[in-house]
Amino acid sequence: MKVVVLTGAGISAESGIPTFRGKDGLWKKHDPMKLATPEAFGKNPKLVWEWYDWRRQLIAKAKPNEAHLLLADLEKKIGDFWVVTQNVDGLHQRAGSKKVIELHGNIWKVRCTSCGVEDYDYRAPLPEIPPKCESCGGLLRPGVVWFGESLPIDALQKAFALSQEADIFLVIGTSAQVYPAAELPFIAKNSGAKLIEINPEETPVTPYADISVRKTASEGLKEIIPELL
Ligand code: OAD
Repeated sequence: MKVVVLTGAGISAESGIPTFRGKDGLWKKHDPMKLATPEAFGKNPKLVWEWYDWRRQLIAKAKPNEAHLLLADLEKKIGDFWVVTQNVDGLHQRAGSKKVIELHGNIWKVRCTSCGVEDYDYRAPLPEIPPKCESCGGLLRPGVVWFGESLPIDALQKAFALSQEADIFLVIGTSAQVYPAAELPFIAKNSGAKLIEINPEETPVTPYADISVRKTASEGLKEIIPELL
């Protein structure tokens, strides 16, 4: 049996990391067009980096929560178990999940805008903002996907294939508003998967879900785990 889980910011909410579109969501206080687009970075790399540095510090202090840990445990029990995440916080990996597809990159990754070299830098706060490339001195950018950018092709292809092959497709903590990630639950459903959603709020996925649990990620997961084993 293949189980595929699509996660969004809601799964990290219980770790104290704010979501984007909720009541206290980041996009309620900040304009994504000024912080999360290539144009914003071109105009003001310092401002964009200050914002990412703040988020990196928040994430560095956060711990994986029960929902992340339950998913890591399910991977050990089920084997053919995959997490496809829109999150850039790396908390699934820190919880012990191994088969993780990152659709929107990783906040600890940095990439040189001049020579293209990519690396992980776990320092938070960063000693210099904006940070510079150690190889060529060029400007580094966060290794995340911004609005208007393409998703990493390998991750996207794998996510589409997994969605088509899934027997059970679980959607946790995403508002399902950002494409192409938001398309995956529908691909899975149309390919015959049982679709399960966990979210305290209704989303565009809800009407198509075979089971939809109106609870937080950890509470909802505890309820539906018997469906998976
Ligand atoms: P959103 O902030 O859009 O949605 C978060 C979802 O989590 C909402 O549907 C909430 O109801 C739900 N939620 C809140 N607390 C929860 C909890 N404790 N347990 C479970 N669910 C909870 O976040 P995403 O859907 O991940 O992209 O957003 C997708 C993308 O939009 C992000 O990756 C980011 C953002 O802009 C980029 O920055 C490119």
